[in-house]
Amino acid sequence: MRILFVGDIVGSPGRSMVEEYIPKLKRAYRPHFTIFNGENAASGKGITQKIYQQFLGLGAHAITLGNHAWDKKEIFDFIDDANRMVRPANYPEGTPGKGLTYIKENNMELAIINLQARTFMQPLEDPFRKADELIEEASKRTKSIFIDFHGEATSEKQALAWYVSGRVSAIVGTHTHVQTADDRILPGGTAYITDVGMTGPYDEILGTDKDAVIKKFLTNLPVRFEVPKSGRTQLSAFLVDVDEASGNATRVERILINDDHPFLG
Ligand SMILES: [Fe+2]
Ligand SMILES: [Fe+2]
Repeated sequence: MRILFVGDIVGSPGRSMVEEYIPKLKRAYRPHFTIFNGENAASGKGITQKIYQQFLGLGAHAITLGNHAWDKKEIFDFIDDANRMVRPANYPEGTPGKGLTYIKENNMELAIINLQARTFMQPLEDPFRKADELIEEASKRTKSIFIDFHGEATSEKQALAWYVSGRVSAIVGTHTHVQTADDRILPGGTAYITDVGMTGPYDEILGTDKDAVIKKFLTNLPVRFEVPKSGRTQLSAFLVDVDEASGNATRVERILINDDHPFLG
């Protein structure tokens, strides 16, 4: 099976990029499963039901989230019914939504897990122990398991990747919004990249108005962070082929589309 994963989609520029490029990427790569990280999809902060539906309409089979999952209050109205959406699984017991879901296509089943790191982030429950628990649960149904590990620290992302290597098909990092060039297959057949990168504004800082971010660094005063609606855009994604009999990754590819890296497919 082939999985296409699109990194943090930021605001309307990010949504326009997936609208334009998902059909092209699907034609070029023919993925069986397409997954979006949607934690920043609504003006950089959270996701709405309308955007969730729009993403499914574009051909996303599942949406992963992260620390911004809760920024739009309406998430609490629909997350429990959103079967194709996962939020970090290591939030405390009783948190709305779920951290593990399954998607099916042509007799192939893929488990999707979302976890959040803790270094320089909120002190959630231990993502390592939570990974053990969910991998064990998912393994009863399928050998194909995909983890979006949403985190800041490269070391923590590498640590979890090595910790689960051989037990999952892929573990990809999100949250930093900058694509790393370390895509690989770990011994044991686990695809890995420290961060897939973001989809949205190209000439801003992590998708946010760069003047506001610079002002913040210059003054340390409160600044309003917004996603500019115009300007050049980019798309960051990751492609992994999985042998569904073994659950092992067999091939990985980084995808980065912007004016400096034009899409040739
Ligand atoms: Fe993000
Ligand atoms: Fe994030």
